[in-house]
Amino acid sequence: MTRHLVTSALPYANGPIHFGHVAGAYLPADVYVRYLRMKGEDVLYVCGTDEHGVAITLKAEKEGLGYAEYVDGWRREIKALFDKFEISFDIWSGTSRCPQHAELSRTFFTTLLNNGLIFDKTEDQWYSEALERYLPDRYLEGGCPECGHEKARGDECPRCGAWIDAKDLVSPTCTIDGSKPVLKATKHWFLDLPKIQENGLQKWYDGQNEGRPHTAWKPNVHGYVQAMLKDMQARPITRDLPWGVPLPEELAGGEGKVLYVWFDAPIGYISATMEWAEKQGKPDAWKTWWQSPDTQLSHFIGKDNIAFHMVVFPSMLLGQGDSENESPYVLPWSVPANEFYNLQGRKFSTSEGWHLNNEDFFSKYSADAARFHLILSGPESADSEFTWEGFQSTNNALLADKLGNFSSRVLKFAEKRFEGKTPQSTGELDTHEDLMRATEAFAEVGQRLAQQEFKASAKALMKACDALNEFFDSMAPWKKIKSEDPAEHSLCAATIERCIAYLELISRRLAPFCPSAAKELRQTLGAVAQPEQNKWGNDEPPKTLPAYLALGEVGVLFPKIDNDAVQDEINHLNSAVQG
Ligand code: 2FM
Ligand code: ZN
Repeated sequence: MTRHLVTSALPYANGPIHFGHVAGAYLPADVYVRYLRMKGEDVLYVCGTDEHGVAITLKAEKEGLGYAEYVDGWRREIKALFDKFEISFDIWSGTSRCPQHAELSRTFFTTLLNNGLIFDKTEDQWYSEALERYLPDRYLEGGCPECGHEKARGDECPRCGAWIDAKDLVSPTCTIDGSKPVLKATKHWFLDLPKIQENGLQKWYDGQNEGRPHTAWKPNVHGYVQAMLKDMQARPITRDLPWGVPLPEELAGGEGKVLYVWFDAPIGYISATMEWAEKQGKPDAWKTWWQSPDTQLSHFIGKDNIAFHMVVFPSMLLGQGDSENESPYVLPWSVPANEFYNLQGRKFSTSEGWHLNNEDFFSKYSADAARFHLILSGPESADSEFTWEGFQSTNNALLADKLGNFSSRVLKFAEKRFEGKTPQSTGELDTHEDLMRATEAFAEVGQRLAQQEFKASAKALMKACDALNEFFDSMAPWKKIKSEDPAEHSLCAATIERCIAYLELISRRLAPFCPSAAKELRQTLGAVAQPEQNKWGNDEPPKTLPAYLALGEVGVLFPKIDNDAVQDEINHLNSAVQG
């Protein structure tokens, strides 16, 4: 049986995350795993914080905090936003706290070294004599050798995106004290990506390794990786830093050095699974997830993480075999990398005030509405954005008018005319054309989710609601109930019975997107929505519900957002950035 191992990029514990991150790498994954769980599939959803690296040490030092303390603060804040969005990780780990992480990372390193896939080189690196330390990555600033930008960093240029060899920076200075560094020799280790490309990476990427199948790569992923594979370079995977995973003790020249954050971070997916397995009381269970050919591994990420999930991490995994055996690890099956998600025409920027206040947002609006809107407007194939007008329209015109309104029309009618119970139906409308259209759309919801096409799935759900509203309108039960003709009465009862049956189906199709509203809808459906029925199930509801099942109390599933509220939000955003 297929096993679904789902990861979302481990966010850096180095600052707030915003709706853009959620829309890109977390919410789609959460919708996917909720769908799979409802189908009764074997699924594990893994995440945690990425807690090492220069960006973190530098900021912790600037704030005068210990690294662990600094990381803990951001970790709490990040998790709080995931909780608001009801992101349902099976394990929420973190690379500096996971008990298995450092040792596993060193095992990866040592195996690659023994397999001849890591080599060392002694090279000049920038060094601060005043601080008596090497200055990797962001500890340096200087002119970009590619575009001339004056504030390029030791690892990359924020303007042109070039990967930079720090020795090529023009007039570098130390970002801690502004001093001029000197060059000093130090030993580092490099991952031999060209060799691994030849040994199997290319074959896997091209879909020619039958034992390690993958989905068709998304166009954005393919474009990026193809270019990278044409010019593969070895990458340094160690750093002179006081915080991170220390190199194996027995390694000559490794003292005081740690693994590069991008080497240990993706191993975090595996160590987090080990931590999960340990907590389950089945310490070996992680192997079933990471070392069984039945596993489909999906990495949900933003586009800036493509190189590491498509080239670097797969190479590290491929290199874990020994001289006689292939690597025991699975390789990614799918990498649904998303583009960027902006806010009202500009990039999200917490420091510039161009952001949403999470506390404030969730005190006024529901996670369900936010989730549905972020999926519908998400950056699946191109950059996209959150606008307040768009959010209002998703909430009011789709969730409230199409779904909520259908539910309340039907259930209020049943309350008033059928004593809040399911009417007795002859089943004469079971194959009504509108209902068949709804069934087709419900089928599409699942098909699209299985393909990780989240926007299209959400749209199909709305299409199903359209067909159901049309059914209700065309049957006009409010007229039939007043008729003298018993045949009309019977049709009215059959209409309401079908609508209730389809509402129960809506509650299950809505659940991956809007888990709380789906639950509320099931409560409203009372005895019609039995807990044991709450599975993905068929794409059409059971034929003819039993009569006289008691329904629950009717509430408002999606309260409307008025125009003044939207205008206030926009004004607030503009004033925060001006002021
Ligand atoms: O871009 C980021 O936020 C990285 N911390 C993602 C790491 S993903 C994984 F490899 F851990
Ligand atoms: Zn540049």
